[in-house]
Amino acid sequence: MTVSVDDFKKALQMWASGVTVVTTQSEKFGVQGMTVTAFTSVSVDPPQILVCINDAADTKVGIHESRYFAVNVLNSDQQDLSNQFSGGSSQEQRFQNTNWRAGITGAPILSDSLMSLDCKVVEKVRAGTHWIIIGEVQECMCRLGDPLLYYRGAYRQLAG
Ligand SMILES: Cc1cc2nc3c(=O)[nH]c(=O)nc-3n(C[C@H](O)[C@H](O)[C@H](O)COP(=O)(O)O)c2cc1C
Repeated sequence: MTVSVDDFKKALQMWASGVTVVTTQSEKFGVQGMTVTAFTSVSVDPPQILVCINDAADTKVGIHESRYFAVNVLNSDQQDLSNQFSGGSSQEQRFQNTNWRAGITGAPILSDSLMSLDCKVVEKVRAGTHWIIIGEVQECMCRLGDPLLYYRGAYRQLAG
C-alpha cells in the first residue's frame, strides 16, 4: 500500500507542536538558521535531542560543516521570527533583524526565545528527504514566557 504525499501531510497536520529555530555557525557558511518543528528529546543521561532537517536546507550544510547547532524554542510572540526563518529572506537578513549571541559552541542563541539548547552533533542519519541529527546538549538556557504552538498549518497560543 502506498500513502500519497498529500494524505501523509494532511495526517501530520493533526500533530500539535512547539516551534523552534535551529541555528549554526561555521567558518565556511557563517551564521545560518531555519524554522523547525521536528524536534524531540532523546536521552536524559547523556542529555541528547534530535531535529529532522530537509536535505535541501542551507542550514543542513552549515551543521554538517561545524558539527554544532542550537535549538531555540520560540515564545508566543515570535511568530514573525518563525516566518522570517522559514524562507523568503537571506540568512544575512534573518540574523540582521534578530537579537542573538554566540553560544559556547558558536551556534547563535536567539536572545528572546523561551529556551535554547546548545548542542554538539553526535550522530546523523539520512532518512528519505531528511536528516535526523542527534545532538548532545552542552548548555541549556531557559527564560520566562509561553510557547508558540503550531497545529493544522497555523500558529496557536496556549488557551490558559
Ligand atoms: C512552522 C514550520 C515548521 C517547519 N519545520 C521544519 C522541519 O521540522 N524540518 C525542516 O527541514 N523544515 C521545516 N520547515 C521548513 C524550513 O523552515 C524552510 O524550508 C527553511 O527556509 C529551509 O531552510 P534554509 O533557509 O536553511 O534552506 C518548517 C517551516 C515552518 C513554517
